[in-house]
Amino acid sequence: MGRNPPILLVDTNYDHRALLKQLISNMPFAVVGEANYGVEAARLAGELQPDILLVHIEEPLALAFRTLEVLQEAAPLATPIVISRRSDGETARKAMLAGARGYIVSPPTSSSLEDVLTTARARHLAKPNPADFIEGEDGSQVMRPSQLAGGTVITVFGPKGGVGKTTLATNLAIAIRQQTHGSVVLVDVDADFGDVAVIMGMEPERTMRDLLRAFKEGELPPVEQFLSLHPAGVHVLAARHAEEVGMQPDPEAIAALLKQLTRKFDFVVVDTPGAFIPQVAAALDEATTVLLVTSADMSSIKDARLAITTLRNSGYNADRLKLIVNHATNANSVSDSDVARTVGYDVFWTLPHDRAVPESTQSGEPIVLSNPKARMAQRVLALGAYLSGAGPLEEPVAPKRRGLFFR
Ligand SMILES: Nc1ncnc2c1ncn2[C@@H]1O[C@H](COP(=O)(O)OP(=O)(O)O)[C@@H](O)[C@H]1O
Ligand SMILES: [Mg+2]
Repeated sequence: MGRNPPILLVDTNYDHRALLKQLISNMPFAVVGEANYGVEAARLAGELQPDILLVHIEEPLALAFRTLEVLQEAAPLATPIVISRRSDGETARKAMLAGARGYIVSPPTSSSLEDVLTTARARHLAKPNPADFIEGEDGSQVMRPSQLAGGTVITVFGPKGGVGKTTLATNLAIAIRQQTHGSVVLVDVDADFGDVAVIMGMEPERTMRDLLRAFKEGELPPVEQFLSLHPAGVHVLAARHAEEVGMQPDPEAIAALLKQLTRKFDFVVVDTPGAFIPQVAAALDEATTVLLVTSADMSSIKDARLAITTLRNSGYNADRLKLIVNHATNANSVSDSDVARTVGYDVFWTLPHDRAVPESTQSGEPIVLSNPKARMAQRVLALGAYLSGAGPLEEPVAPKRRGLFFR
């Protein structure tokens, strides 16, 4: 057996360092040094020449990224990996531009941390593959987001049905594809009633069911053969056909599947059924961002409150968990500030009620394609731009009518 690859841990917070060291002590890696930002970190990097620089990125970001650069100058052969509480695409993209080979959202699970350390190091040592690079804004070659180990997984969740989860997931996947030209896969985890394919007007030949059957027989097969390509360029792993209600996917299969997909796609978007079942928990665990969708009626808001409390108790913070209010119906509408007050959590994004949405649902063409000027489409496009790092977070635009209900 070879030696455990040495890691230098750079983090301003002593408790984080202790936590990470604790996690890594059970992995085939060795923390050989730790430091705060600054001169000490650079000196240790030069002296130890570790295989991996594990750097916690915190506000102020400029200082954090400067530290990352200095460390790479001191230990040019090391693989820089960033860990951060921030799950937005913008920070991940900046980290990548500053040389990071892996990105992991804090606090990490043991398996996700080990996965990123292993994959990022292996990729760094492998010969560069031109297909792993795309042209940056200034014409320079930058790595594809999927090559940043531990890519983006956006899980759309909401404890109620009919609040617009599938509407958001399908449109968001297309929006991200349009705006980044990166590879996007949309996964329908709703085993029995998943309607992603219907809403996208697709008739997939192979579905999640075929993949899960193969998983039951042993290894998870390469996932490509189970995907269908939507004309907008989004790959879809559709749910099984409705006549086969009953068999629920194994949560381990969902976790393994999402891990495999993050290595192959720049963005993974996951649609879930409205229930806290084990395979949904797996999809939430693997998520870098959870979009928790509620409609603006009391029954959905109360369920959202319970879900948010549960997730916060399991360590999801505001960077990873975002509350979305979708005005799916315009009856009994509660204002966004009342939603925030009732749930006890800030509203991150509002989606307007838009009559063009049910029309697009009926016709099997998501609204960002059928009617990109529609208010709903505009709001999803802006959200996609932010989450994928393709654009800044825009202030929510105030819709014209029913202004009372929107920020
Ligand atoms: N913002 C909206 N405005 C109008 N109708 C909407 C909106 N969002 C969703 N809908 C409609 O609500 C219904 C349920 O949406 P869906 O995305 O299937 O919900 P879920 O996946 O949460 O069960 C669909 O018929 C859809 O067209
Ligand atoms: Mg749905």
